[in-house]
Amino acid sequence: MDGNGRWANKRFMPRAFGHEQGVDALVRTVKACVVRGIDYLTVFAFSSENWRRPADEVSGLMSLVLVAVARHVERLAQEGVRIRIVGDRSAVSEKVRASWDKAEAATQHNSKLVLSVAFNYGGRWDIVQACQRAVADGLGAADITEAALSRYMALNYAPDPDLFIRTGGELRISNFLLWQTAYSELYFTDCLWPEFGEAELDAAIAAFARRERRFGGVDAAPPALATQGA
Ligand code: IPE
Ligand code: MG
Repeated sequence: MDGNGRWANKRFMPRAFGHEQGVDALVRTVKACVVRGIDYLTVFAFSSENWRRPADEVSGLMSLVLVAVARHVERLAQEGVRIRIVGDRSAVSEKVRASWDKAEAATQHNSKLVLSVAFNYGGRWDIVQACQRAVADGLGAADITEAALSRYMALNYAPDPDLFIRTGGELRISNFLLWQTAYSELYFTDCLWPEFGEAELDAAIAAFARRERRFGGVDAAPPALATQGA
């Protein structure tokens, strides 16, 4: 979800306003996904690297989490959305953690769409934490296989994403889902995140539908994860 700051700057507004509008774009997009029968939506809300932003922007984003959860979770729960947070929670404040816990608890019995919010998340962090937890569980070198490690990844409950969308015009992954996007179709748009909605989502889905997926083979069947070590 990139481009909030630029969207606000273009309007001579503070970046925080762009982030607020970004929350509305997210709610819009979640609803659009529900209507379209999408089962899993994962969004990059705050990266491990976003702490490097000015302190006032970081604290503004943290406050926005509290506001967004208070304002939108009940409604999303009614629509059948389950919210799950992925990322390193140890570094976020007690308040933010409590807010995320509340969002997860209030929606835990829903299954129409699983909205995973990556918060204080990094793709490299994810791979490292998976290895650490696997080792802590007693797995040895020969047990560390693709299939085994997948069970320790933060998104172990979700299939690998079919489609990866980045807004805001940059052509990079920026440490989002590195492990899980091995065979995802990548879609980049200049649309700034606060402007994202149904039309942009449909354009991305239409582009996805035109892609030919071969997963490194000759047919459209994704490869099974390796269960044998090297
Ligand atoms: C993305 O928008 C929002 C977050 C990372 C929280 P940006 O804040 O990166 O907006 P730009 O890239 O400066 O326009
Ligand atoms: Mg940005």
